[in-house]
Amino acid sequence: MTLPDRVLSLLQKCGGESVSGEEIAKQLGVTRNAVWKAVNKLKEEGYEITAGTNRGYVLNSNGDALTSSSILQHIPEEYRDLDILVEGRVTSTNTVLKQMAEQGYREGTVLISQEQTAGKGRLGRSFYSPFGCGLYMSILLRPSFSAEQSLLITTAAAVAVAKGITEVTGAETKIKWVNDVYIGWKKVCGILTEASVDFENGGLTYAVLGIGINVQEAEGGFMELADVATAIYKENSPKGIRAKLAASVLTHFLGFYRSLENKPFMKEYQELSLLTGADIVYSIGDKREQGTVLGIDDDARLMVRLENGEIQNYLAGEVSIQRGFTGGIKHEG
Ligand code: BTN
Repeated sequence: MTLPDRVLSLLQKCGGESVSGEEIAKQLGVTRNAVWKAVNKLKEEGYEITAGTNRGYVLNSNGDALTSSSILQHIPEEYRDLDILVEGRVTSTNTVLKQMAEQGYREGTVLISQEQTAGKGRLGRSFYSPFGCGLYMSILLRPSFSAEQSLLITTAAAVAVAKGITEVTGAETKIKWVNDVYIGWKKVCGILTEASVDFENGGLTYAVLGIGINVQEAEGGFMELADVATAIYKENSPKGIRAKLAASVLTHFLGFYRSLENKPFMKEYQELSLLTGADIVYSIGDKREQGTVLGIDDDARLMVRLENGEIQNYLAGEVSIQRGFTGGIKHEG
């Protein structure tokens, strides 16, 4: 445990009562100056600490802190066996966590960053990740099941995110096949799973599950992405919301991951489908088809009735919605 973590833990135990720097220093066996530095570090992380009577310290609230401790406190005991690391700025949490996976970090290592300078999306796209505006999180998994079954990791994650957002913020979410989470008609979360295949046993050495949720719009909005991207909050997101969101998404995902083969998330994945009933254009590589989405089958494939009446179940690809489909969602404004 770092000194700031030890100071935090001590302040938490004081339950809102003030405790002097001298007392903290004595209890932790460090100097008062070291305590002062640790308190400043905690304040930088977002904790609301004030000097109380007799100039002691009081932890008023976790404020907007996005730290291992502020996340773990919202995770039930049975899922708390995680190593959560929070950085200020990285290129991409997926890229860095893949390097850590190669170095032998364990399953359950979670890397979160306040900002990504080279956030990655699917199909070589980038993922806009401005400081403090989103939850940019990657989870290291070392699955024991086959590479084919591992495809369900992303499906489970989409349901975990959709549920997590609704649980924590009340916003209604949908999943746009394959794995984008939407609020209204705009994307609020993208998911990118990257894996290293073990050719010897047909399984995976590891998978890095990357989740990017737009929590609050950056100043200036989404600019050229404004027609397709949204955030849960336009401004003034509640303090501590990202820690609660991370905890909720992790808890739902880990629950699903424990029995991934049984697909405990599939019913909700089907029910949350944004595309069901929509007239769409499906594409994969150079191939393009038009049709109507009938739903999602039990293997998470998109069931489409093509224009010639033929029914196809697609496992992968891209979909765009034909104009005019409302899917029961009211357009605002
Ligand atoms: C997509 O929309 O195509 C997927 C976006 C995935 C973004 C997340 S943010 C955390 C993790 N790190 C990355 O570089 N990408 C994923």
